[in-house]
Amino acid sequence: MNVSEILQTRRSCRAFKPDSVDQDTLFAVLNDALCTPSWGNTQPWEIFVAGGEVLKEINQAYLANTKNHIPMSPDIPHPKSYPAAAKEHIKEFMAGVSLVAEDAVKLFGELNQKFFYAPAVIYLCMDKSLATWSMFDLGALSQSIMLAAAESGLATIPAVTLVHYPEILRNKLGIPDNFSIVIGIAIGYEDKQHPINKFKSARRPVADVATIKGIE
Ligand SMILES: Cc1cc2nc3c(=O)[nH]c(=O)nc-3n(C[C@H](O)[C@H](O)[C@H](O)COP(=O)(O)O)c2cc1C
Repeated sequence: MNVSEILQTRRSCRAFKPDSVDQDTLFAVLNDALCTPSWGNTQPWEIFVAGGEVLKEINQAYLANTKNHIPMSPDIPHPKSYPAAAKEHIKEFMAGVSLVAEDAVKLFGELNQKFFYAPAVIYLCMDKSLATWSMFDLGALSQSIMLAAAESGLATIPAVTLVHYPEILRNKLGIPDNFSIVIGIAIGYEDKQHPINKFKSARRPVADVATIKGIE
Protein backbone atom coordinates (compact mmCIF):
# COMPACT_ATOMS: atom_id res chain seq x y z
CA MET A 1 0.00 0.00 0.00
CA ASN A 2 1.24 3.49 -0.73
CA VAL A 3 0.88 6.37 1.74
CA SER A 4 -2.32 7.63 0.14
CA GLU A 5 -3.94 4.19 0.36
CA ILE A 6 -2.90 3.79 3.99
CA LEU A 7 -4.22 7.25 4.89
CA GLN A 8 -7.54 6.52 3.16
CA THR A 9 -8.01 3.08 4.75
CA ARG A 10 -6.50 3.39 8.26
CA ARG A 11 -9.04 3.68 10.99
CA SER A 12 -9.15 3.18 14.70
CA CYS A 13 -9.57 -0.46 15.67
CA ARG A 14 -11.71 -1.01 18.78
CA ALA A 15 -11.56 -4.81 18.93
CA PHE A 16 -8.34 -6.76 18.40
CA LYS A 17 -7.71 -10.47 17.92
CA PRO A 18 -5.74 -12.09 20.78
CA ASP A 19 -2.71 -12.76 18.51
CA SER A 20 0.41 -11.11 19.89
CA VAL A 21 2.70 -8.72 18.01
CA ASP A 22 6.24 -10.03 17.84
CA GLN A 23 9.13 -7.92 19.04
CA ASP A 24 10.84 -7.65 15.61
CA THR A 25 7.67 -6.29 13.98
CA LEU A 26 7.13 -3.82 16.82
CA PHE A 27 10.76 -2.75 16.64
CA ALA A 28 10.53 -2.20 12.85
CA VAL A 29 7.38 -0.06 13.25
CA LEU A 30 9.02 2.09 15.93
CA ASN A 31 12.28 2.32 13.94
CA ASP A 32 10.39 3.76 10.94
CA ALA A 33 8.23 6.01 13.11
CA LEU A 34 11.27 7.53 14.81
CA CYS A 35 12.07 9.25 11.48
CA THR A 36 9.30 11.73 12.47
CA PRO A 37 10.45 15.38 12.44
CA SER A 38 10.53 17.40 15.67
CA TRP A 39 11.22 20.97 16.76
CA GLY A 40 15.02 21.53 16.56
CA ASN A 41 15.32 17.72 16.31
CA THR A 42 14.60 17.65 20.05
CA GLN A 43 13.07 14.14 19.64
CA PRO A 44 11.14 14.79 22.85
CA TRP A 45 9.46 11.37 22.94
CA GLU A 46 10.05 8.53 25.38
CA ILE A 47 8.32 5.27 24.57
CA PHE A 48 7.14 2.48 26.88
CA VAL A 49 5.43 -0.65 25.57
CA ALA A 50 3.34 -3.13 27.54
CA GLY A 51 2.14 -6.51 26.31
CA GLY A 52 1.27 -9.98 27.54
CA GLU A 53 0.93 -10.46 31.31
CA VAL A 54 2.18 -6.94 32.05
CA LEU A 55 -0.64 -5.40 30.02
CA LYS A 56 -3.17 -7.78 31.61
CA GLU A 57 -2.05 -6.64 35.08
CA ILE A 58 -2.34 -2.99 34.03
CA ASN A 59 -5.85 -3.63 32.71
CA GLN A 60 -6.87 -5.44 35.91
CA ALA A 61 -5.63 -2.50 37.98
CA TYR A 62 -7.58 -0.02 35.77
CA LEU A 63 -10.75 -2.13 36.06
CA ALA A 64 -10.35 -2.26 39.86
CA ASN A 65 -9.98 1.54 39.98
CA THR A 66 -13.11 1.97 37.85
CA LYS A 67 -15.05 -0.49 40.04
CA ASN A 68 -13.95 1.41 43.16
CA HIS A 69 -14.97 4.74 41.59
CA ILE A 70 -11.41 6.10 41.75
CA PRO A 71 -11.48 9.24 39.62
CA MET A 72 -9.29 9.14 36.52
CA SER A 73 -6.43 11.63 36.52
CA PRO A 74 -4.61 11.63 33.16
CA ASP A 75 -1.39 13.68 33.07
CA ILE A 76 -2.90 15.70 30.19
CA PRO A 77 -6.39 16.67 31.38
CA HIS A 78 -9.48 16.30 29.20
CA PRO A 79 -10.65 19.59 27.61
CA LYS A 80 -13.10 21.49 29.86
CA SER A 81 -15.23 22.53 26.88
CA TYR A 82 -15.34 22.43 23.10
CA PRO A 83 -16.33 25.02 20.50
CA ALA A 84 -19.78 24.41 18.94
CA ALA A 85 -18.39 22.90 15.71
CA ALA A 86 -16.27 20.34 17.59
CA LYS A 87 -19.27 19.46 19.80
CA GLU A 88 -21.27 18.79 16.64
CA HIS A 89 -18.55 16.44 15.27
CA ILE A 90 -18.45 14.51 18.57
CA LYS A 91 -22.26 14.18 18.39
CA GLU A 92 -22.06 12.89 14.80
CA PHE A 93 -19.27 10.50 15.83
CA MET A 94 -21.27 8.95 18.68
CA ALA A 95 -24.41 8.82 16.49
CA GLY A 96 -22.34 6.87 13.93
CA VAL A 97 -21.06 4.48 16.61
CA SER A 98 -24.62 3.83 17.83
CA LEU A 99 -25.62 2.46 14.41
CA VAL A 100 -23.17 -0.46 14.23
CA ALA A 101 -24.83 -2.72 16.80
CA GLU A 102 -27.52 -2.89 19.42
CA ASP A 103 -26.12 -1.28 22.57
CA ALA A 104 -23.14 -0.07 20.53
CA VAL A 105 -22.45 2.91 22.77
CA LYS A 106 -22.32 0.64 25.85
CA LEU A 107 -20.08 -1.75 23.91
CA PHE A 108 -17.83 1.17 22.93
CA GLY A 109 -17.37 2.01 26.63
CA GLU A 110 -16.73 -1.61 27.59
CA LEU A 111 -14.15 -2.09 24.84
CA ASN A 112 -12.36 1.09 25.98
CA GLN A 113 -12.29 -0.30 29.53
CA LYS A 114 -10.87 -3.61 28.31
CA PHE A 115 -8.17 -1.85 26.27
CA PHE A 116 -9.96 -3.10 23.14
CA TYR A 117 -8.49 -6.60 23.91
CA ALA A 118 -5.24 -5.31 22.37
CA PRO A 119 -2.17 -7.54 22.79
CA ALA A 120 0.09 -4.50 23.24
CA VAL A 121 -0.07 -0.80 24.04
CA ILE A 122 2.56 1.79 23.12
CA TYR A 123 2.66 4.69 25.61
CA LEU A 124 4.11 7.98 24.39
CA CYS A 125 5.65 10.16 27.07
CA MET A 126 7.63 13.38 27.25
CA ASP A 127 9.49 15.31 29.93
CA LYS A 128 7.06 17.53 31.88
CA SER A 129 9.29 20.60 31.39
CA LEU A 130 8.82 20.54 27.59
CA ALA A 131 6.52 23.09 25.95
CA THR A 132 3.43 22.70 23.75
CA TRP A 133 5.49 22.31 20.57
CA SER A 134 6.71 18.96 21.85
CA MET A 135 3.09 17.84 22.05
CA PHE A 136 2.89 18.68 18.33
CA ASP A 137 5.94 16.42 17.80
CA LEU A 138 4.31 13.57 19.75
CA GLY A 139 1.18 13.93 17.62
CA ALA A 140 3.29 13.56 14.50
CA LEU A 141 5.03 10.52 16.01
CA SER A 142 1.63 8.96 16.76
CA GLN A 143 0.56 9.22 13.15
CA SER A 144 3.91 7.80 11.98
CA ILE A 145 3.46 4.81 14.30
CA MET A 146 -0.08 4.23 13.03
CA LEU A 147 0.93 4.46 9.35
CA ALA A 148 4.00 2.21 9.78
CA ALA A 149 1.84 -0.27 11.70
CA ALA A 150 -0.79 -0.29 8.94
CA GLU A 151 1.90 -1.01 6.36
CA SER A 152 2.83 -4.10 8.42
CA GLY A 153 -0.80 -5.26 8.50
CA LEU A 154 -1.30 -4.08 12.07
CA ALA A 155 -4.28 -2.13 13.37
CA THR A 156 -4.05 0.64 15.97
CA ILE A 157 -6.07 3.07 18.03
CA PRO A 158 -4.78 6.12 19.89
CA ALA A 159 -6.83 6.34 23.09
CA VAL A 160 -6.81 8.65 26.05
CA THR A 161 -8.67 5.99 28.07
CA LEU A 162 -5.43 3.99 28.02
CA VAL A 163 -3.68 6.71 30.05
CA HIS A 164 -6.48 7.53 32.50
CA TYR A 165 -4.54 6.13 35.49
CA PRO A 166 -0.91 7.23 35.02
CA GLU A 167 0.18 6.05 38.50
CA ILE A 168 -0.60 2.45 37.55
CA LEU A 169 1.53 2.84 34.40
CA ARG A 170 4.39 4.45 36.35
CA ASN A 171 4.41 1.53 38.82
CA LYS A 172 4.14 -1.27 36.29
CA LEU A 173 6.40 0.18 33.57
CA GLY A 174 8.88 2.23 35.62
CA ILE A 175 7.91 5.50 33.95
CA PRO A 176 9.66 8.33 35.84
CA ASP A 177 7.60 10.99 37.64
CA ASN A 178 9.10 13.75 35.49
CA PHE A 179 7.51 12.28 32.31
CA SER A 180 3.97 13.11 31.25
CA ILE A 181 2.23 10.03 29.91
CA VAL A 182 0.54 11.64 26.92
CA ILE A 183 -1.27 8.92 24.97
CA GLY A 184 -1.55 5.18 24.57
CA ILE A 185 -1.70 3.54 21.16
CA ALA A 186 -3.16 0.04 21.22
CA ILE A 187 -1.66 -2.13 18.50
CA GLY A 188 -2.41 -5.60 17.18
CA TYR A 189 -4.42 -7.47 14.58
CA GLU A 190 -7.96 -6.33 13.85
CA ASP A 191 -10.88 -8.58 14.71
CA LYS A 192 -12.62 -8.02 11.39
CA GLN A 193 -15.77 -9.87 12.54
CA HIS A 194 -16.40 -7.54 15.48
CA PRO A 195 -19.34 -5.17 14.82
CA ILE A 196 -17.59 -2.17 16.41
CA ASN A 197 -14.95 -2.31 13.68
CA LYS A 198 -17.61 -1.68 11.03
CA PHE A 199 -17.69 1.90 12.20
CA LYS A 200 -15.85 4.49 10.10
CA SER A 201 -15.63 8.10 11.29
CA ALA A 202 -16.68 10.73 8.76
CA ARG A 203 -14.38 13.55 7.69
CA ARG A 204 -15.01 17.17 6.78
CA PRO A 205 -14.37 17.66 3.03
CA VAL A 206 -11.30 19.67 1.92
CA ALA A 207 -13.50 22.47 0.59
CA ASP A 208 -14.99 22.98 4.09
CA VAL A 209 -11.64 22.88 5.88
CA ALA A 210 -9.09 24.63 3.66
CA THR A 211 -9.13 28.21 2.43
CA ILE A 212 -6.89 28.35 -0.62
CA LYS A 213 -5.98 31.57 -2.41
CA GLY A 214 -3.64 32.32 -5.29
CA ILE A 215 -3.53 28.73 -6.51
CA GLU A 216 -5.44 27.77 -9.67
C1 LIG B 1 -5.67 12.08 21.03
C2 LIG B 1 -6.72 11.04 20.73
C3 LIG B 1 -7.40 10.42 21.75
C4 LIG B 1 -8.35 9.43 21.47
N1 LIG B 1 -8.95 8.77 22.51
C5 LIG B 1 -9.84 7.78 22.24
C6 LIG B 1 -10.42 7.03 23.31
O1 LIG B 1 -10.11 7.23 24.47
N2 LIG B 1 -11.30 6.06 22.99
C7 LIG B 1 -11.66 5.77 21.69
O2 LIG B 1 -12.48 4.86 21.48
N3 LIG B 1 -11.12 6.46 20.65
C8 LIG B 1 -10.22 7.44 20.90
N4 LIG B 1 -9.61 8.12 19.87
C9 LIG B 1 -9.91 7.72 18.48
C10 LIG B 1 -10.79 8.77 17.79
O3 LIG B 1 -12.11 8.62 18.21
C11 LIG B 1 -10.65 8.54 16.27
O4 LIG B 1 -9.32 8.77 15.88
C12 LIG B 1 -11.54 9.49 15.48
O5 LIG B 1 -12.90 9.20 15.73
C13 LIG B 1 -11.28 9.34 13.97
O6 LIG B 1 -11.55 8.01 13.58
P1 LIG B 1 -10.46 7.07 12.92
O7 LIG B 1 -9.23 7.04 13.79
O8 LIG B 1 -11.14 5.72 12.85
O9 LIG B 1 -10.17 7.62 11.55
C14 LIG B 1 -8.66 9.10 20.12
C15 LIG B 1 -7.97 9.75 19.08
C16 LIG B 1 -6.99 10.68 19.37
C17 LIG B 1 -6.23 11.31 18.22
